[in-house]
Amino acid sequence: MLYIGIDLGTSAVKLLLMDGGGSIHKIVSREYPLSFPKPGWSEQDPADWLRETAEGIRQLTADCDKSQIAGIGCGGQMHGLVALDRDGQVLRPAILWNDGRTSEEVEYLNETIGWDKLSRYTANIAFAGFTAPKLLWMRKHERSLFAKIDKVMLPKDYINYCLTGVHCTDVSDASGMLLFDVARKRWSPEMLELCGLRESQMPRIFESFQVVGTLKPEIAKALGLPETVKVCAGAGDNAAAAVGTATVGDGRCNISLGTSGTIFISSKNFGVDPNNALHAFAHADGHYHLMGCMLSAASCNKWWMEEILNTGDFAAEQAPITDEKLGTNHVFFLPYLMGERSPINDTNARGTFTGLTMDTSRSDMTQAVLEGVAFGIRDSLEVARSLGLSIDRSKLCGGGAKSPLWQKIFANVLNLDIDLPETEEGPGYGGAILAAVACGEYPSVEDAAEKLVHVTKTIRPDPALAARYDDQYQKFRQIYPAMKALFPALH
Ligand code: XUL
Repeated sequence: MLYIGIDLGTSAVKLLLMDGGGSIHKIVSREYPLSFPKPGWSEQDPADWLRETAEGIRQLTADCDKSQIAGIGCGGQMHGLVALDRDGQVLRPAILWNDGRTSEEVEYLNETIGWDKLSRYTANIAFAGFTAPKLLWMRKHERSLFAKIDKVMLPKDYINYCLTGVHCTDVSDASGMLLFDVARKRWSPEMLELCGLRESQMPRIFESFQVVGTLKPEIAKALGLPETVKVCAGAGDNAAAAVGTATVGDGRCNISLGTSGTIFISSKNFGVDPNNALHAFAHADGHYHLMGCMLSAASCNKWWMEEILNTGDFAAEQAPITDEKLGTNHVFFLPYLMGERSPINDTNARGTFTGLTMDTSRSDMTQAVLEGVAFGIRDSLEVARSLGLSIDRSKLCGGGAKSPLWQKIFANVLNLDIDLPETEEGPGYGGAILAAVACGEYPSVEDAAEKLVHVTKTIRPDPALAARYDDQYQKFRQIYPAMKALFPALH
C-alpha cells in the first residue's frame, strides 16, 4: 500500500509518497507566503495551506495507482492559532509559532497566574508562540472575533478538518497549546477557564497514530483519491520528525534544522524540566519527550544568504570555510532574529554580529551565522545535560541538515556523534509512518520507525576541534547576558 506524508511547514508544504516498505517514491514541495504585519508578528492564511496541500497531493499522486493509497499523515508547524466560526470559516489569519506579539499575556500567565500553577496544569510555562497566550491576546484585542470562535485548532488540524470534517488534534501538537494537561492527556479545565474557552470549542484528542476519519466524498473526488483513504491524527512537526528519524522510545535525540531549530529527546516516561526551560510534551509514539526550540535556525542562514548577500548559491558561500577556519572565528552571531524561545524565553532579544574587525570577511560572517545557530542548540543541550540526561549522539534532519559544513559544525559544537538518516524529510516521512501504523501495516510507531529508518552516515566530532568549539561556546554564552538589558530599547 502507499502512504502520503505531509509536512505543513512555515515556508512550504512538503509531501512525500511512501510505500509500506518505507521507500519514498516521490517528493513534492509547494511554497506559500508568510507575512510579518508588524515587527515580531508572524501570520499565514490557512487557505494558502489548504490550496497548496491539495495541489501537492494531486501532483504527488498524478502517476501512481491511486487505488493503492491507504492513508495520509500530517506533521505540522506547531502552536499556530486557527480559529473557525460556526460555519467552519476561518476568522482571522493564523497566528504562528514564531509570533512574538503576546509578551504581555505571557507575563500575565507566568507572573500573575504563576509558573507553579501553569506547570501543574500543563507541565509547561507560557512562551510567546504558544496558543493560550494568543487566545488571551485575541480576547483582549479582537473581542468580537473572539466571541465568534466555535472551533480552535492547530495548523495541521485545519488540513485534517478540511479532509475529513473531523475537528481533532493529536497529543503531541495539543501539548504545545498550554491548554493541555500533558501528564493526563486531556484538556486542562483550569486553563480553558482562564482563557475563556469551553471544551466544546476544543478539538477531540487522539494519539498521533490513530485514524480520525476518511476523506469526505467531495474532497476525495477533488483530489482524485478513493473515499476509503484513512487520515490519521498526525503530529506536531517535531514529533513527526522524531518518528521520521526513529527518535522513539527512551533517551534518543533528534535535532531538526528547519525554519526553527529544535532538539528533541524522547522518553518512555513523563518528566518535566524543573526550570521549564525545555518543553515537556507528549510524543507521537504514545510516550513523551523534552524539547528545546530556537525560533530562527536554517532561517538565519536563508536570511543571511538571500536577503543580505543576495545569493541562492549557499554552497559557494560556504566553500571558503575550510577546516582550519573552524573553531577560530573571531565573529559571533546571536541568532535571535524573531526573539528567542529556548532556553532564554525573551521576545525582545534580537540578532547581532559581534567581534567584527577590518579584516572580517564575508565568509567569516557566513560562518558566524552557521555557528551561532549551533551554539543556540547547544544552549538547550546544556539544559538537558544539567538535568542528568546523557546524550552522546543525535540524528539531524531538516533543510539545514543537507550542508556537510553545518553537519561538521554541529558535531563539534555539540560534541556529539551526528547520525544522518537516509532522508532529511523528517516530518513528512514521520507523517507517512504514522499513517502506515494507523492503517495496520505496522503494530506500533516504534516498530515501524525501527524497521524503516536507516542511518547512512555518522559525523564524529574531532576532539581537538570540539575543544576549540568549547572555548568558542564559552565566549558565545556571555554575549546575550551582556546585551539583554539593551534589547528592549532597540525596538
Ligand atoms: C516547536 C516550534 C517549531 C514549529 C516550527 O515548539 O515552535 O518547531 O513547530 O514548525
